[in-house]
Amino acid sequence: MNELNKVDIENREQNYKYMVYAIKDQFENEKDLIANLSNASAIIKFYIDDCNWAGFYLNKEDTLVLGPFQGLPACIRIPSGRGVCGTAFKEKKVHRVFNVHEFEGHIACDGASNSEIVLPIIDKNSNVFGVLDIDSPSIGRFTELEEKYLIQVVKVIEENL
Ligand code: SME
Repeated sequence: MNELNKVDIENREQNYKYMVYAIKDQFENEKDLIANLSNASAIIKFYIDDCNWAGFYLNKEDTLVLGPFQGLPACIRIPSGRGVCGTAFKEKKVHRVFNVHEFEGHIACDGASNSEIVLPIIDKNSNVFGVLDIDSPSIGRFTELEEKYLIQVVKVIEENL
């Protein structure tokens, strides 16, 4: 793993470009998926400021099971359709939630979380491999800017499944 570029606190978009670059670099140099997802969660948490949890839930027999992550211990199993993760999983759609307390059925793993973004990861057979879940203690932390770069992260993962 090459050394990470420094975070530029003045320029979020630059940080997100570094994030995508570092994750691509990781996948180009290693084939082990769990190792790569582990470092991807660390890279995401490093470059996305104001983030208290970043990680993966993986599809095991139609239930999401906790995968590699950075943050506090989290709930282990999420059924399809439950919470933000289960909804993104069921609908195969990105969910950007401005205020998680207003999301019906939100699962509060870390009480500090107030907003989140969840992106489905789709395999070559159009099945959901898992989801990428990122939480923030700030309301409305995730915008189109974060979504744009996290979609690129998910693309790198999908190409390497
Ligand atoms: N917030 C998620 C649950 C997972 S934890 O935040 C890590 C949800 O409602 O789906």
